[in-house]
Amino acid sequence: MFISFEGIDGSGKSTQARRLAQALNARGTETVLTREPGGSEGAEEIRRLLVEGRSERWSPETELLLFTAARRDHVERLIRPALARGAWVVTDRFADSSRVYQGLARADLRQLVEELHRLTIGIETDRTFVIDIDPEIALTRGQARGGVEDRFETLGLDFQRRLRDGFLALAAEFPARIRVIDGSGSGDEVAGRVLAALA
Ligand code: ADP
Ligand code: TYD
Repeated sequence: MFISFEGIDGSGKSTQARRLAQALNARGTETVLTREPGGSEGAEEIRRLLVEGRSERWSPETELLLFTAARRDHVERLIRPALARGAWVVTDRFADSSRVYQGLARADLRQLVEELHRLTIGIETDRTFVIDIDPEIALTRGQARGGVEDRFETLGLDFQRRLRDGFLALAAEFPARIRVIDGSGSGDEVAGRVLAALA
């Protein structure tokens, strides 16, 4: 199985991706935990170009090409080899982030996102969990975390609201693949919802 976690910044997806990978490994399913942008050596280098610096550093088109280049390397070097040897892969973000961030919220590039995906990526997740949360709660969680990777979080609350709407619309567009998980409550509660939705 190839599983992704998606959602707005600070929704708790990294926490839940880590917890699911731990739970799967504990039950004897070899599971690789990874993330985007990043997940392979080259993609982690591209990640630094994307998440550090000012929000207008790249045009939306350039940004999409960088995310796609990072994803291609991630798929080639880590995801496909892991799936080929029978492991499960749990990734913190994948192509749905490009569909929502570059396709809808940052710019209106959904068509380009789909074309690039078809031409250069070519695989889709088996299951995607969108961790859904009130953007005000998510923003507070994200700001509490701090750090230099703030290029996206500084875009503010209205931007996070557009993202949330975008992820919910995407879930409605792909009902067989995407499950919306209520991200409120404790980490244990959310993890329980994820496991129930996977069963
Ligand atoms: P994301 O990957 O979506 O940005 P994280 O998993 O990194 O989110 O969580 C953002 C912050 O919120 C972290 O400091 C994390 O410890 C905290 N957090 C995660 N899940 C919960 C939760 N259910 N309740 C409260 N805080 C949480
Ligand atoms: P991430 O480190 O997952 O941020 P967070 O933990 O705050 O959710 O991802 C960095 C940023 O990159 C995040 O704001 C989402 C954005 N992003 C895109 O805009 N497009 C993409 O294709 C991906 C994978 C991420």
